[in-house]
Amino acid sequence: MKILLFGGQGRLGTAIQNKLTQHQYVYPTSQEVNITDKEAVTNYIQKQPVNIIINLAAYNNVDAAEKDSTLADAINTQAPGYIAEATTEKNIPFVHFSTDYVFEGTKKEGYVESDQPNPINAYGKSKWLGEKKVLEKNLQAFIIRTSRLYGPPAKSPNAKRSFVDIVLDLASKESSFTINESEVSAPTLVDDIALHLQKYFLDSLPEPGIYHMSNQGGCTWFEWAKEIVDILNLPVQILPRDQNQQPRPAKRPLFSILHSTKITPMRPWQEALKNYLLHP
Ligand SMILES: NC(=O)c1ccc[n+]([C@@H]2O[C@H](COP(=O)([O-])OP(=O)(O)OC[C@H]3O[C@@H](n4cnc5c(N)ncnc54)[C@H](OP(=O)(O)O)[C@@H]3O)[C@@H](O)[C@H]2O)c1
Repeated sequence: MKILLFGGQGRLGTAIQNKLTQHQYVYPTSQEVNITDKEAVTNYIQKQPVNIIINLAAYNNVDAAEKDSTLADAINTQAPGYIAEATTEKNIPFVHFSTDYVFEGTKKEGYVESDQPNPINAYGKSKWLGEKKVLEKNLQAFIIRTSRLYGPPAKSPNAKRSFVDIVLDLASKESSFTINESEVSAPTLVDDIALHLQKYFLDSLPEPGIYHMSNQGGCTWFEWAKEIVDILNLPVQILPRDQNQQPRPAKRPLFSILHSTKITPMRPWQEALKNYLLHP
């Protein structure tokens, strides 16, 4: 299969190419095709003889999006609409990635695909409006929401740093540090998403619409950090930090676990993390 990836040099895009080596890929950088340029997107898609398009490109600096909502809107809301429109014209499937941050985070038991989004920060809002734009422009499109990505390094230096990398970096420099003990969501291994993508979206296509794809379960940032150092037996002390002591520009959902009710759920987050850290 020939696959066009926007944002293909990011963390998830790199994992898809490394895990699913049976396919051929085209993956323009943001320098080659800036997805906020509608004409560039449309012309590029028209010229590419591909079987499917997957959009992984995003503005995903959650705090910066509060001040820079115009750019977040251009990349996360308008651009997916341009791709959706071009894929409709070309009559090929379109898979667009979104986030648990579309939810407000008050539902402790987690969210299913049909729950009503109600984002509480600019990033979440831009991603939710992007989902709506995609489904409005392409009735056959697929939206995949995921959360807290980590895994092998991305090809692009612009890719978002993962929490696992941040914790490992801190652990290599400090003997003790504090981590936010709130916000429950699921750490998700990008390699697991790649394999699920193959099974449920590339082997054969499901019904169009919204899907959830995160490793099962959930934890706070503190619990995640503890699990990382425990698995690797690192000689560091991690202490819980009350997030109110260190406010950030963007509010975060307190509980944003994604339940997958339309495709088989992925393995538990602890199992994926252990596998990644011990057998990278
Ligand atoms: N990271 C997370 O924890 C997380 C959580 C939930 C959902 N998601 C979603 O999952 C998807 C993949 O995330 P990721 O972590 O793999 O992203 P990432 O590693 O940060 O990579 C994002 C990519 O977006 C591209 N990009 C940004 N602006 C662009 C523009 N104007 N034109 C073209 N490309 C542009 C960048 O391309 P260049 O490198 O060429 O500049 C970069 O490679 C995104 O939709 C994200 O919102 C991520």
